[in-house]
Amino acid sequence: MQFSKFGNRLSKDSGILQLMDDLGNAVNTAADEELYMLGGGNPSHIPEVLDILQEELLHVVQDRKDFTNLVGDYDGPQGNEAFISSLCEMFQSEYGWAIDESNVAITNGSQSSFGLIFNLLAGDFKQEGNKKILLPLVPEYIGYGDVSLSDAPLFSAVKPLIEIDDAGFYKYSVNFDELTIGNNIGAVCVSRPTNPTGNVITDEEVQKLSALTKEASVPMIIDGAYGLPFPNIVFTEATPFWDEHVILCLSLSKIGLPGVRTGIVIAQPELIEKLTGANAVFSLAPGSLGPKMMTRLVQNRRLLDISNNLIQPYYQEKVKIAVNAVQQSMADLPVYIHQPEGAIFLWLWFKDLPIDSDELYKRLKAQNVLVIAGQHFFPGIEDENWAHQYECIRVSFTAEEHTLRTGIDKIGNVVRAAFAQR
Ligand SMILES: Cc1ncc(COP(=O)(O)O)c(C=O)c1O
Repeated sequence: MQFSKFGNRLSKDSGILQLMDDLGNAVNTAADEELYMLGGGNPSHIPEVLDILQEELLHVVQDRKDFTNLVGDYDGPQGNEAFISSLCEMFQSEYGWAIDESNVAITNGSQSSFGLIFNLLAGDFKQEGNKKILLPLVPEYIGYGDVSLSDAPLFSAVKPLIEIDDAGFYKYSVNFDELTIGNNIGAVCVSRPTNPTGNVITDEEVQKLSALTKEASVPMIIDGAYGLPFPNIVFTEATPFWDEHVILCLSLSKIGLPGVRTGIVIAQPELIEKLTGANAVFSLAPGSLGPKMMTRLVQNRRLLDISNNLIQPYYQEKVKIAVNAVQQSMADLPVYIHQPEGAIFLWLWFKDLPIDSDELYKRLKAQNVLVIAGQHFFPGIEDENWAHQYECIRVSFTAEEHTLRTGIDKIGNVVRAAFAQR
């Protein structure tokens, strides 16, 4: 079969495809062999959260009218009205955000939100030429990498400042001295917390980026898939943020509903109209299940309660185990852990690693340990000689303790062998 340019883009060897393939294969082979699945972005199955989600699902399906409406009717293309209204009420009353129903659209997962938003705001602008999405900080989410429908490079990025402390941790921060929002920038985008690093850009960085984007009349996209206000997988001080020029993308996935595919976009009405149009054209309507399961939990604020009192503490505990495992099993190695401030990953930097992270990924995979090679998380960086980008891996800490500890031990062994062979 012959495919269009668009078709060929989808089969190329992308990081996100590798990740999702590994995730699928791991699920398929887990029964035969012991696998150390530290690669995926699947959230943990937290029993107390699952109880609540199951209760809400039962509540919807037990009522014949609600059930019929759930499976038998399309929602409108902007998404479920009752859910959107409940979100607006919550954002207004809890955070004082001046939004109404014209500011919110539902999508089939925030990955779809980014696919649409990036292509709406960057790409071919005819007279003005090509516009890009500026990533003020990389490493950044692997899933942004391949969503462009145009051939022109989609991202421009700035290398971060790196601050190492004495305890073996480091932190990236935005290098504002190098950040310019020129006419070729269609939007600025940052994930907060960041996948893969667990970095949470500070309130001060958010305010600075907000001021710069406002001044340049360019939207600022905040990817809150792990963040604020929900699911609040944040282990540091950080304030939820929205303003008129901000496009805040949220998701129900890390609440524990990745299979349900629900994304939420809070933005200016003109963008919401475009997303509504895109939903209609590509999917008729976004799915109803996530919105229906969540409306009550938004209305009674249990969603915030679950985020703050179940999900956040659960991952906070997990991250301690993961950090402890790295410190115990890699004390002799030149490893730096990015400050784990949020999300579900540790980002490990093996300084002067003699092999690149793709090779390390392969050697680990041969040992049944799945991680994600770090070099795919630097979209928009043009300096191929920047060694740092080949020296990092992403390790998910959602697995149960034995898998996590054994997997991390194995990573230590493979890295040790690589240094020894040098
Ligand atoms: C930073 C970030 N943004 C967006 C997504 C997309 O999530 P979903 O499409 O499940 O909402 C993910 C998924 O892991 C992510 O890590």
